[in-house]
Amino acid sequence: MIQKINPIGVFDSGYGGLTVLSEFFDLLPEYDFYYLGDNARSPYGPRSFDTVYAYTLQAVKKLFEMGCHLVILACNTASAKALRSIQQNDLPGIDPNRRVLGVIRPSVEAIGTYTKTNHIGILGTSGTVISNSYPLEIKKIYPEISVTQEACPMWVPLVENNEHNSIGADYFIEKNIHSLIQKNNQLDTIILACTHYPLLFEKIRKYVPENINIISQGKIVAKSLKDYLHRHPEMDDKCSKNNIRKFFTTESVEIFMERAQLFCEQIENIEHLEL
Ligand code: DGL
Repeated sequence: MIQKINPIGVFDSGYGGLTVLSEFFDLLPEYDFYYLGDNARSPYGPRSFDTVYAYTLQAVKKLFEMGCHLVILACNTASAKALRSIQQNDLPGIDPNRRVLGVIRPSVEAIGTYTKTNHIGILGTSGTVISNSYPLEIKKIYPEISVTQEACPMWVPLVENNEHNSIGADYFIEKNIHSLIQKNNQLDTIILACTHYPLLFEKIRKYVPENINIISQGKIVAKSLKDYLHRHPEMDDKCSKNNIRKFFTTESVEIFMERAQLFCEQIENIEHLEL
């Protein structure tokens, strides 16, 4: 008999969302998860609003078809460019009882607990920075906080090409950090607003002055998901809990297997999927 499960869907443009998924595994070990990486069409960072929205909507619909009632966009670019439209325009027509959540809101909510100077920096892809999602969301909750952004278009390709430990990576990381700090020398908190950046953490730490906190999102988003499920028992009841984990990629299984290990140690059960 085929076991019918209703996993929590986790979507990312590629591999980066695996850094968030690892934290879900740690904090919510009993839940079932389907991870979907649109690796064949990543990166999303440089793509237009319309393209990211269209691709993300396809992925969300697919995860719904596969039995997910709750989908997390574990990708800043997709959260910045597609989440609001999907929540407001698409979900009511698809199924008003399903939910799609992103990574920006939980990260923003946590910011207030870190900054003392009320000056924070955002490092992200060009898409995330241009969308202005972080400054807009922060303004809603913490109007007193000033936000300074820096787009780091080379950082994702460095990680994707396994060059994140190279001297070349130092060049780009130092350049972007220097540029961010030059724009605002009162920063005391920097958010890594891209799921790939935790893999660059050591190098980023090397170039960021010691008095500045560097915040990775994974743990914050995982805690927020746990709180969400606690506050919404009707959704929690719909999410199956058999500790089943499956990975789907729009790329080949072999390529996914090889690269995904860099982002998450617990990769198993991979299938190719067309969107
Ligand atoms: N996952 C994306 C993010 O967090 C980075 C990779 C991409 O550009 O597709 O913004």
